[in-house]
Amino acid sequence: MASSRKVVFVDGVRTPFGRAGEKGMYWQTRADDLAVKATQGLLQRNPELPLEEIDDVGIAATTQQGDQGLTLGRTVGVLAGLPLSVPGFALDRMCAGAMTTTALLSGSIASGMYNVALAGGVEHMGRHPMGFDADPNPRFVAEKLVAPDALNMGITAERLHDRFPHLTKQRADQFAMASQQKVQAAYDRGDIQPDLVPVAIRTANGWGLATEDEGRRPETTLEGLAGLKTPFRPHGRVTAGNASPLTDGATMALIAGSDTAKQFGLGTKMILRSWAFAGVQPEVMGLGPVPATEKALKLAGLDITDIGLFELNEAFAIQVLSFTDHFGIDDDDPRVNPWGGAIALGHPLASSGVRLMIQLARQFEQRPDVQFGVTAMCVGLGQGGSMIWENPHFDGKKRK
Ligand SMILES: CC(C)(COP(=O)(O)OP(=O)(O)OC[C@H]1O[C@@H](n2cnc3c(N)ncnc32)[C@H](O)[C@@H]1OP(=O)(O)O)[C@@H](O)C(=O)NCCC(=O)NCCS
Repeated sequence: MASSRKVVFVDGVRTPFGRAGEKGMYWQTRADDLAVKATQGLLQRNPELPLEEIDDVGIAATTQQGDQGLTLGRTVGVLAGLPLSVPGFALDRMCAGAMTTTALLSGSIASGMYNVALAGGVEHMGRHPMGFDADPNPRFVAEKLVAPDALNMGITAERLHDRFPHLTKQRADQFAMASQQKVQAAYDRGDIQPDLVPVAIRTANGWGLATEDEGRRPETTLEGLAGLKTPFRPHGRVTAGNASPLTDGATMALIAGSDTAKQFGLGTKMILRSWAFAGVQPEVMGLGPVPATEKALKLAGLDITDIGLFELNEAFAIQVLSFTDHFGIDDDDPRVNPWGGAIALGHPLASSGVRLMIQLARQFEQRPDVQFGVTAMCVGLGQGGSMIWENPHFDGKKRK
């Protein structure tokens, strides 16, 4: 970072992610309660933090209405039991909401205005369907600013297939199946569970407890994927199997100045090196992480080859492949989403940025041979976000 003050990712947790819709485990759970649970889980895990020292709480959501509206950072802070002196705000950058709260609050810490903050996001896509009640300005279409279907994310993904015909449906399906398998392997090793905060849920059979991500499909086969419908275009290539499913969930991270973390005896899971957001043509919004990552690398004084781990949000398999292809990285490169991603875990829009960070932070712990990692994601209407992190556990010996 340009500033002399180092910002650290102290910790992050999330709720288990649920399938959106009436059959999903959170159908009867409020969106704000998911964010409250994530906040409380994070604070319980970091009891050294004096709550009155929290400078701000930023919580993102894409559809800010009803139980997902009303300035979430403030309402969730009060509901989670933070002192009333701690302020909070809500923010929207669609899929990169939590990434943006993290970046902007980190900037506030780097500048010395803040010392410690909570940053996260929530999206209950069951109770708040994507684009619900949106009223795009007619000028977008009348003045041909963007194609009429540029707000349909699935169609933007189909366009990536059009633009890069060598990134075939078969490659997308293979990537999607691997994501399912890698997530299951990570679950089997017990790598995912430690950062999940259990959530009490109401079900048809009474009260229950959500402890695991609900949408996983470890039994996925290439044959099964090949037979799925293409909902966004007749004879298209994007299917329910190689797209992230509609999902409910919340994430929350604790970030601080490295001096503040030391002062309060808080841990350091990652050190922030840089971040960047960038815009691209809305019609191919999935390309956004490419210029965002190039910008972030430049700011950090790094090259793509310096990155030992990539946590890329799998909005669509083709969207990740367009990123890896651009940088000359193989589809099955072990540095990319080693524990799987959103195709299997789900993508509760505004919350996902911090999910990527949680997963990268855990991997850093296990990988002292890796010095730098990236979390990157695409954003609706043609944007991308990317954050570059340094591993505090790096032992100085890079290994292949
Ligand atoms: C693609 C999408 C439209 C599918 O929605 P859906 O039809 O409700 O999805 P479902 O989970 O019901 O899956 C549809 C079918 O595919 C099957 N399926 C899904 N994943 C599968 C897998 N991995 N293997 C085999 N079958 C699978 C389901 O079993 C279901 O079969 P059925 O119709 O026989 O019941 C939806 O997930 C979507 O819009 N995703 C993208 C979200 C998005 O845009 N996010 C923002 C990104 S920028």
